[in-house]
Amino acid sequence: MSADISPDGGSHGFRIAVLASGTGSNLQAIVDQLHGREGIEVVGVVSNVAGARALDRAERAAIETAVIPRDDFADRAERDDAIADWLEERDVDLVVLAGYMELLSPGFVRRFEDRVINVHPALLPSFPGLDAVGQALEHGVWVTGVTVHFVDEGVDSGPIIVQRPVSVPLDRDRDRLEEAIHAIEHVLLPEAIRLIAGGRVRVEPGSRRVAISPAATT
Ligand code: GRF
Repeated sequence: MSADISPDGGSHGFRIAVLASGTGSNLQAIVDQLHGREGIEVVGVVSNVAGARALDRAERAAIETAVIPRDDFADRAERDDAIADWLEERDVDLVVLAGYMELLSPGFVRRFEDRVINVHPALLPSFPGLDAVGQALEHGVWVTGVTVHFVDEGVDSGPIIVQRPVSVPLDRDRDRLEEAIHAIEHVLLPEAIRLIAGGRVRVEPGSRRVAISPAATT
């Protein structure tokens, strides 16, 4: 995957959209570190939750927003089609799930195959699904972490792009662990987007492994 080149030869840059349901601290990290830089542009933010703080953050950065709630549609597939239409109309190269708290339907995943990524607060394949931090604390691991992966039709099961470990504090304090995980997310997610925008990430054919090519030296 690499930045699209329009037919007239001019680059339209690498266009990303973010799907978020809540606070949007990862969206903020993307806006602060990538938006309008290195040929990367955040062209839209979609939420399933009206009033999500992520929407305020987008509006403050003059990024177009849409609220597309599940209740407005007959079923999830129909709602996800509406989201996919909105994204395609904006010619999005990459869809970033940053705290998007719903599963995407198979039709959506097929329309954006290998173009949807998610940030998950654990070292997958450990602790997929909801409350990964709680699962890690409950299990008693001393190292957990952050994973950025491609989204497939399963729950947090797609090919892994990048991962970074985070130590669990000795007192197992949940707030401190969450803070440490968020700090790593805010570095790792932009890093993964940069790699993809630079055309350096591909899923190895016939496997679920991701290959990352070295940075070009000029
Ligand atoms: C993050 O911990 C992310 O890993 C998970 O949801 C949380 C979203 O946080 N998928 P924020 O809304 O980006 O602050």
